[in-house]
Amino acid sequence: MSDAVQTPSQSQFTKRVFSGIQPSGGLTLGNYLGAVKRFVEMQQADYETLYCMVDLHAITVWQDPETLRFRTRELAAFFIASGLDPAKSILFNQSAVPEHAQLGWIFNCVARMGWMQRMTQFKDKAGKNAQNASLGLFGYPALMAADILLYHATHVPVGDDQKQHLELTRDIAIKFNHDFGVDFFPITEPVIGGPAARVMSLRDGSKKMSKSDPSDLSRINMSDDTDTIAQKFRKAKTDPDALPSEADGLEGRPEARNLVGIYAALGDETVDQVLADVGGKQFSEFKPMLVDRAVEKLAPISTEMARLMQDTTELDRVLKDGSQRARAIAAPILKKTYDIVGMLQS
Ligand code: TYM
Repeated sequence: MSDAVQTPSQSQFTKRVFSGIQPSGGLTLGNYLGAVKRFVEMQQADYETLYCMVDLHAITVWQDPETLRFRTRELAAFFIASGLDPAKSILFNQSAVPEHAQLGWIFNCVARMGWMQRMTQFKDKAGKNAQNASLGLFGYPALMAADILLYHATHVPVGDDQKQHLELTRDIAIKFNHDFGVDFFPITEPVIGGPAARVMSLRDGSKKMSKSDPSDLSRINMSDDTDTIAQKFRKAKTDPDALPSEADGLEGRPEARNLVGIYAALGDETVDQVLADVGGKQFSEFKPMLVDRAVEKLAPISTEMARLMQDTTELDRVLKDGSQRARAIAAPILKKTYDIVGMLQS
């Protein structure tokens, strides 16, 4: 994998943020802290922002059609309830902008089999029976590159697990630019970091918090009520020691690191700031603080999500408006790509 930096000529690209989430159900605290909370922060900064419900990605594994429609709206409600403002950010579902699939095809012809075979997420998701995985699951990262480059996005906020896909996006842009002798696609910057770039399972600090973990106790779902949140944090795995006063003291203590990271991210603090405050406390004292902070932050979001889901007509209107605004940016970029590649267009 190459590690190119932005060249001076790349400053021609305006600051534009793109990111996406699959409407494949089970929104977790990991999705909120690793992604959506950061989407909101970038909306407030000096960027043009596009956030997408990537339904084409979701169907790389089986989705029941009615449930997929429900979850696409639910994800839109999550975005808005978390603070994304449809007047500021462009919110839309991927399939409503056909240019994603069109550019995805071009990138299928740019990306190399060897690159795709190295993708750890494919290996994890396909599991032991890779022969039975869909072709779409294998090509998933090329479509993801298309999502981003279709808007000439310069910045992509994601959780740590998407790092390899973003490196591939850079490789595709570099190879396309090189093969056709152009400086057309930007070399995108991943925006990954902060105390919750990788929120871990509450039952096992070495595993990512994930909607697909068989144990519901391993994760906080955005739909969990106050009692469930409290119960899950109470049962979260810890170690017998008191909390340290500095981040170095979390070394070799993955569960402690995870809970402190969650607490810090929820309160917009750094891990060091938190430890300066709670260092020396036992988990029996720290866990109730964590529950209070989580409930204070998450309860208004789930209440607002439920309210927004009452009016699906309004959600559909927001998505339609978003897809029109997205297409206005995407269509000329796809047209230019077709020109560069040599597609005859009437
Ligand atoms: P998805 O739907 O699996 O996850 C959405 C976002 O949530 C982040 N995330 C986490 N962050 C921290 N800790 C966790 N435990 C955790 N779990 C999930 C993910 O990193 C991600 O940012 N391939 C993407 C969707 C996608 C996309 C794109 C993203 C498609 N096209 C273009 C950015 C740009 C995915 O599967 O995300």
